[in-house]
Amino acid sequence: MTELIPFNKPTLTGRELLYMADAILAGQTAGQGKYTKMCEESIRARLKNSTIMLTNSCTSALEMASLALGLGPGDEVIVPSYTFVSTANSFYKFGVKPVFCDVRREDLNLDVDMIESLITQRTKAVVPVHYAGVPVDMESLTRVCEEKNIHIIEDAAHCDITASGETLLGMRGAFGAFSFHETKNFNCGEGGALIVNQDEYVNACEAIREKGTNRSRFLKGDIDKYTWVSAGSSYVMSDLLAAFLYSQLEDIEMIRNKRRRILDLYKSEFADLLQSGKFECPIFGKESSAHMFYFLVENNVVRDNLIKFLRKYGIYAVFHYVPLHASEVGRELGYMPSDLPVSLDVSGRLVRLPFFFNMTEEEIRLVALGVRCFFSGDTSQLSDITKCHEALPVSTTPTIERLAANSAT
Ligand SMILES: Cc1ncc(COP(=O)(O)O)c(C=O)c1O
Repeated sequence: MTELIPFNKPTLTGRELLYMADAILAGQTAGQGKYTKMCEESIRARLKNSTIMLTNSCTSALEMASLALGLGPGDEVIVPSYTFVSTANSFYKFGVKPVFCDVRREDLNLDVDMIESLITQRTKAVVPVHYAGVPVDMESLTRVCEEKNIHIIEDAAHCDITASGETLLGMRGAFGAFSFHETKNFNCGEGGALIVNQDEYVNACEAIREKGTNRSRFLKGDIDKYTWVSAGSSYVMSDLLAAFLYSQLEDIEMIRNKRRRILDLYKSEFADLLQSGKFECPIFGKESSAHMFYFLVENNVVRDNLIKFLRKYGIYAVFHYVPLHASEVGRELGYMPSDLPVSLDVSGRLVRLPFFFNMTEEEIRLVALGVRCFFSGDTSQLSDITKCHEALPVSTTPTIERLAANSAT
């Protein structure tokens, strides 16, 4: 069956093309233009005293943190094994050794109780990932890291950068790294942001983001020409993509409310199954950024069968990370898959369900019906899935023909 309910559809508010056209017509499509400033200002208003810098990805933001702290060969950084490769590779690529920590079953976040046993003289930073936008125990982590003079770089790729004040993750460490990849709550295809929470790193980060030059000072009018001042790379976000992102930052509450509603609906649809013990769902009862809905089934055979079963009905559920300690590089670093048992276990049992901004109530109920049919073995309702598909409202996503017609009038 064709993909009727995809895993993701990038959020669109409808003004993306307009603002991108504006950037093109204004002749300003490289970085640090009008839309970059507008995005940064919109987010800055929600931060306390931190500095925001848009980047071309969360990976770039993490690399900037690594460069700003001057990390390199001989240094170690503690990262969870159950994460995306960038959490480790952004340090590894500079010669830093990633030291893998296991995650907790209750939220798949870094097991802070393990951290102390992993700290050595060489440990320079810890990179907690707020998995699914559920906060890591930052209180305890900060206590351990402060005692040992170790930096915290928050990988906040799953978090909502538009949350404000106390609820905004990514503000407790020296740095917070965010993603605007097409799968994230707010997106521009590929993009990210670095939140610099300690003023002493702001100048360094500005230079690092601009290929190691003081171009940012030049743009502010502080100097009359710019030059090479440090190591750095091409980490700036194009203003074209900032224009795309800005249209979403104008609709923060609407996007956030919609995602919350999807999460709440999933929770209510699955409350019974959770009671029945058919699966574990760590996301229940937790504050999160409404980034995803996932659960853990009995074992990897059940997981693979469930994903296959749903695909037959056009529903695209997916698994998530392969633990980094069990990857090729992890093995080269001397790890055995069994070294971090929780990461290994959850990675084989985790299923993520379709979750996107304009997902309808009908679509959510359909996904839930598919999962329920799988667990109950009662396939009598399965024909309902096809019927429900047929009854789904026609997509309102603009087509290129409609857009062209609109712009011609
Ligand atoms: C935890 C985590 N960190 C970092 C990244 C990398 O984000 P980006 O694609 O914006 O570089 C991802 C990507 O999904 C992620 O899941």
